[in-house]
Amino acid sequence: MINFITPVRQKIILALGLSMLLTTTLLGADNPKVDGNSTVEDSLVIEKLEKWQDLKFGLFMHWGAYSQWGIVESWSLCGEDREFINRNRPVDKYPDYDQYKKAYRNLQKTFNPLQFDPAKWVEPAIKAGMKYVIFTTKHHDGFCMFDTKETDYKITSTLCPYHIQPKANVTKEIFNTFRDNGFMIGAYFSKPDWDSEYYWWPYFPTRDRNANYDPLKYPERWQKFRDFTFNQIEELMTGYGDVDILWLDGGQVNPSQNNQDINMPGIAQMARQHQPGLIIVDRGQKGPYTNYETPEQRIPETAIVTPWETCMTMGDQWSYKPFDNYKSTHQLVHLLVDIVAKGGNFLLNIGPQPDGELPAVAVSRLEEIGEWMSVNGEAIYGTRPVAPYKEGSVAFTQKENTVYAIWMEENEGEGLPGKIVFSKLQPQKDSKVYLLGYKQACKWEIDDSGKTNIFIPLKAVKSPPCKHAYVFKFVL
Ligand code: GLC
Repeated sequence: MINFITPVRQKIILALGLSMLLTTTLLGADNPKVDGNSTVEDSLVIEKLEKWQDLKFGLFMHWGAYSQWGIVESWSLCGEDREFINRNRPVDKYPDYDQYKKAYRNLQKTFNPLQFDPAKWVEPAIKAGMKYVIFTTKHHDGFCMFDTKETDYKITSTLCPYHIQPKANVTKEIFNTFRDNGFMIGAYFSKPDWDSEYYWWPYFPTRDRNANYDPLKYPERWQKFRDFTFNQIEELMTGYGDVDILWLDGGQVNPSQNNQDINMPGIAQMARQHQPGLIIVDRGQKGPYTNYETPEQRIPETAIVTPWETCMTMGDQWSYKPFDNYKSTHQLVHLLVDIVAKGGNFLLNIGPQPDGELPAVAVSRLEEIGEWMSVNGEAIYGTRPVAPYKEGSVAFTQKENTVYAIWMEENEGEGLPGKIVFSKLQPQKDSKVYLLGYKQACKWEIDDSGKTNIFIPLKAVKSPPCKHAYVFKFVL
């Protein structure tokens, strides 16, 4: 049996933040998880979320002065002893933390990405079939990649050699270029700011990622941090054209963690006043300001009907790392299919180089993903999950009355077998089954044990329409 969740029904689920009850009737036994997290009432937000869910594939970029050292973004400044915090690059020069911190801050004085041209970034992203972008306007280190009035620690400061260049306000350039090419625009913004004296007060040592004082004990200082954050977000919501997504990182900044109440209701109201329908992602929180969930570097086990997005690095690190270990196109296509079959979006991260170029390996991966998308994109864009979502190496998606079965070859280069078999979903009687990229319909049958068998024409086996994963389309 084919089960359908129509976009309209899904919208209703979303709008009402509905219970398991309704989805149970819609989906039968194999329910996607609904945790009521995305209870959105604003109809413009609901509309935008629906549109965003159709896009499926986005580009994430972590870029900052830290890119010059090839280190993990920001984290080496933090007092937490975590394995990914790697300070070893300049360790001989900066054996103690104070010197290291100074040198890190001085990276602004040498950041000069003369090759930066967002037209060169958007081109491979278009080819890959990406439809939205999220850019780090400010990471935890506090270095602003936009022309803020709130601090001089920014790419447009006279201290930064790049400030004299016409594209110095890089956030603006990136947003304009990607928007002009039809992308939805997302601003990554770190709520914690490890450069602000109102967050990391130099009076006290800094133990960890949190504010290093108790906001309740020093309300005036905390209020200054709230104002600073509010003003920066307002700058981004007013001076940078239409913004679709405000992607707030640093989940520790919330009322329940060390009293770090940043005034999300006020921020959201202001932001949506300037940007009606804005999607807000207050990561790691539940409630009205987390319009979709953001599992990081992982894919949920099962389908989820509320909006969600896996963010994941193409290499091992969010920020640029020389000789990083990039995932193969084969892996990336499979990740995309797995995510989309479970109802999510894939936000794939690339760390641009300090000179402003995208790493060549990343560009070639995007091109190869694009080759796959140009044949199979219709099984990805605008689809919604359909039970059983996945069965072994077959993933399912659906769009209106069409269901797609996506068979993922296990080993790269294996190619198509003579037939594929699955048991948990049957095409409706009289359906035609097509292999995308191949004209002729495939023969299919339900065998005695109730399994669906799709027979693949020899010609298609010999010269398949694509690599990595093959899509069978059931048309009634
Ligand atoms: C992790 C990293 C952070 C990065 C984020 C992106 O939380 O610690 O640096 O920006 O992932 O999702």
